[in-house]
Amino acid sequence: PFNLKGRSLLTLLDFSPEEIRYLLDIAYQVKRESRSRLRTERFRGMTLAMIFEKRSTRTRLAFETAFAEEGGHPIFLSPNDIHLGAKESLEDTARVLGRMVDAIMFRGYRQETVETLAKYSGVPVYNGLTDEFHPTQALADLMTIEENFGRLRGIKVVFMGDTRNNVATSLMIACSKMGMNFVACGPEELKPRPEIYKKCEEIVKETGGSVSFTPDPEEALKDADVVYTDVWASMGEEDREKEKIALLKPYQVNERVMEMTGKPETIFMHCLPAVKGQEVTYEVIEGKQSRVWDEAENRKHTIKAIMIATLL
Ligand code: CP
Ligand code: NVA
Repeated sequence: PFNLKGRSLLTLLDFSPEEIRYLLDIAYQVKRESRSRLRTERFRGMTLAMIFEKRSTRTRLAFETAFAEEGGHPIFLSPNDIHLGAKESLEDTARVLGRMVDAIMFRGYRQETVETLAKYSGVPVYNGLTDEFHPTQALADLMTIEENFGRLRGIKVVFMGDTRNNVATSLMIACSKMGMNFVACGPEELKPRPEIYKKCEEIVKETGGSVSFTPDPEEALKDADVVYTDVWASMGEEDREKEKIALLKPYQVNERVMEMTGKPETIFMHCLPAVKGQEVTYEVIEGKQSRVWDEAENRKHTIKAIMIATLL
C-alpha cells in the first residue's frame, strides 16, 4: 500500500501519519521475528555507510546489528576515516558514497550535513541524530508507548527539561503526527524552537492531537501517561553544562514528579544515556514505571523497519 522505497529519514516532518503507522507495523513484525530467532536475508549484498561525528551506543548498535543480521554489510566510519568536508567538499563525498553504497546513516552536529548527504548521494539517508533532530529515536518512542498502552491517539506525553533539544523536538513532531497530546515543560529559555512548534500546531489541527509549552511542572504533569526526559547537556554542549544545570534543576524527574500525574499507570521514558541523579533520580529510572530498556531495544526494531521500507 505504501511505497517508501528510496526515501530518506531526515526530520520525520515529511512522513504522513499513515506512513509512520506503516513503519511501526513493520517494526512489530521484525520484533516478533527477532523473538523467534527467525533470520531472513533481506539486505543480502547491500552495504550501509554509517558516519559518526559524535559518539553512540544504541544508534550504532541498532543500525549495525539490524543491517548485518539481515545479511547486509554495515561500514562504520568516523571523521578520522573519511574526508568529511576536509580535503573534499561534502557534496563530492556524498556523490562518491552514493555510487558505492545502498544507504547512509549520519550522526553528527549540523542538520545541514545530513540534508546535503541526502541531496547529493541519491541513496536513502538516515538521520541518526543531529543537533536539531533525532527522528529514529522518536519512532522507537512511539513503538514503546503503543506497546504499553495499546494505542497512541489521545496519549498525553510530557517532556521535562531541555524542550528544544533534538530528542524533545523529534518527540514533539512524532506525537503531533499521531494525534497525541504533547506538553513541553521546561524553562522559558529552552522553549521549543518557534518554527518547529508552529509546524506542529498545524499538524495537530489535522490529527486531533495537541501541543503546548509550560514552565510549570504541576500544570504539565496532570493526567500524563508518559513522563519523558533527556540529559541536560547534549553532546556538543559541554561548555554550557553549568549554565544548563542551573536552568534545568527544577525539572528533575523524581518520585514526587511521577506522583504529580495522579495516575499510577504513568510510565517513565528516557532515550539514554542518562545521568542518574541529575535529570532523573535512580529510584525513577530503576523503578516499576520505567520503560527505558524496552525503549532502547525498540531502537533496533524501528531502525530495521525504516531500512526495510526504504531499501526493498
Ligand atoms: N538514544 C541514543 O541515541 O543513544 P546513543 O547515543 O547511545 O546512540
Ligand atoms: N540530547 C542528547 C541525546 C543523546 C541520544 C544528545 O544530543 O546528546
